[in-house]
Amino acid sequence: MSSISRIEGLIAQHYDQEAEFYDYLGTTHRSYSCNVWKPATTTNDEAALNKYRQYNQILNVQPTDNVLEIGSGWGGMAKFFKNKVNSYRAINITKQQVDWTDANIPGVTFIHKAWQEYEPNRRFDFILGDGVLVHAKYAQKRMFRRALRKWLKPNGKVLLKEMHFDPNSRVQKQICAGLNHTFKWGEYRTLQEDVDDLTDVGFTVNTTTIPIINYIKTMREWKKQMRINRVRMKQIHTNKYRLDMATWNLYLELMRRGDFTVDIMVCNV
Ligand SMILES: C[S@@+](CC[C@H](N)C(=O)[O-])C[C@H]1O[C@@H](n2cnc3c(N)ncnc32)[C@H](O)[C@@H]1O
Repeated sequence: MSSISRIEGLIAQHYDQEAEFYDYLGTTHRSYSCNVWKPATTTNDEAALNKYRQYNQILNVQPTDNVLEIGSGWGGMAKFFKNKVNSYRAINITKQQVDWTDANIPGVTFIHKAWQEYEPNRRFDFILGDGVLVHAKYAQKRMFRRALRKWLKPNGKVLLKEMHFDPNSRVQKQICAGLNHTFKWGEYRTLQEDVDDLTDVGFTVNTTTIPIINYIKTMREWKKQMRINRVRMKQIHTNKYRLDMATWNLYLELMRRGDFTVDIMVCNV
């Protein structure tokens, strides 16, 4: 088995699930990463829109731009940006998500491929990745950065959003070392490590931190919706229900113990 198909298998255990399951998370945008909560925000849909608007304020995409998204999940970001740009292409390792987004989000080219196997026939004005870098181990992260550099147009920009831990917290360092040991298909890092490595391949990196309370609110809302819809969700996939609840509980517990951050990293050459 190639290393890619092994990674795909492991990621699939987490993401490759019945699309209907996600209908019960109470969001049409189906964002599956930290959203941005404002005082008047009450749902994950509104919070996802806040997030995409913030991305667009940073990027200021134009109707002539060609965009590549890596790790497009259930397509929320594609849905937001597709009519604002000339072309939007999205690659994703998870087949269920690609099939669902392809059927439900017209005007976007969804490609079922791992970025490790992808060779685009063009360069892009923007490359976007929300919660995808975490799914690479050390050597793969280097490959990822090189690919970004190669696929970006000279005046283009890359936007990556990731959760990071605080290097000054001994507890967090230990927790993340433990997680990285068991986490076979990814690795948690500090913001400085990501920025240093992106700088090493020639990027200038600007960062904006999203306070961790946003991730806490995002997860609490998922949990709330899951509790409301638990009967139907368990009928669709009992183990997935249990696994997601356990994952959100673990993450929430980690976040109570220190200053994790979620950071938007914008890279240009
Ligand atoms: C945390 S989810 C985030 C999804 C989406 N970006 C969002 O914010 O809702 C990570 C996504 O990355 C995708 N992914 C993970 N590893 C990948 C790889 N090597 N190549 C392409 N997609 C990958 C997963 O299938 C999943 O859709």
